[in-house]
Amino acid sequence: MQTLPWSWYTDPDVLRREQERIFRSAWQYVGHGGMVAEDGDQFAAEAGDVPVLVVRDGEAVGAFLNVCRHRGSQLVEGSGNGKSIQCPYHAWTYGLDGRLRAAPRADREAGFDADGLSLVELRLEQWGSLLFVNPDVDASPLLETLGPVTELVPLDGLEFRVRDDYELGANWKIACENYLECYHCPVAHKGFSAAFEVSPDSYRLEPTGEHVLSQFAPSKEDGEGQFHFVWPNLRINVYPGPGNVSVGPMLPAGPEWSRGYLDYFFATDAEETWIEELMAFDRQVGAEDRALVERVQRGVRSALIEHGRLLPESEQLVARFQELVRAAL
Ligand code: FES
Ligand SMILES: [Fe+2]
Repeated sequence: MQTLPWSWYTDPDVLRREQERIFRSAWQYVGHGGMVAEDGDQFAAEAGDVPVLVVRDGEAVGAFLNVCRHRGSQLVEGSGNGKSIQCPYHAWTYGLDGRLRAAPRADREAGFDADGLSLVELRLEQWGSLLFVNPDVDASPLLETLGPVTELVPLDGLEFRVRDDYELGANWKIACENYLECYHCPVAHKGFSAAFEVSPDSYRLEPTGEHVLSQFAPSKEDGEGQFHFVWPNLRINVYPGPGNVSVGPMLPAGPEWSRGYLDYFFATDAEETWIEELMAFDRQVGAEDRALVERVQRGVRSALIEHGRLLPESEQLVARFQELVRAAL
């Protein structure tokens, strides 16, 4: 079984097609409810290359394209709070409901019509306190996409702790594919393989939903780790022990560059030392994976080989991911 053509991991035209055909119609995690807890809270995020603005307006949390209707400036950077959203370029000012409320000198322009100049609304839906945005207004509901994940992963009683940001010198698909197999675990993750059963007879790979590819790793002590991938680019990790979830996307930042983050949530009664140990463990695995995916990028870039060879059993989830990419493009 062949991999995707390796040129797809360096070609800017392929990335352009991926942005249009994958990311513009997918549900994408953008943050959590704590980021918009108060009226007027707002933060910038990304859904693929679509700039997103998430805003709390009273009881409602909504998402807009983070782009000014005047000459296209990005509106909000980072996060903030306010009664309105003001563009830093010429001070067009929008309400928290997205309507254009004021534009300096507009009264001197005949026929200026603020009504057609509201911010463009995007779909926003929640799973527990996790916020997802989809640029496609006709998308099917988020919970349909998440399928079995909402039953497998309990979010109740968890509290946000920290966001880890990262950048990788690798195409986003290489990062996803690396996440989707544990064939490399015995070789490249000694710590992980000491704590979890990684042999093919114990470690389970399961497409648990149309858009969900899951992995279950029995712990050598008690319980099991769950590692879910939600198409096109979301990781959801649950370790055994006290309540914990980490969730975050792998976003393309260029044909050979990706970036992302992981938001960590823990049960309020989880012990501090346990949390710190788990995070150190997870960051160690992350550092090992970074080295792996950057090596792959350097290899596939060489252009003398057209594609690689997949193992249909041990890399079945990678194969499924590549099928989804192929079908989308
Ligand atoms: S681009 Fe936003 S006010 Fe001019
Ligand atoms: Fe790994």
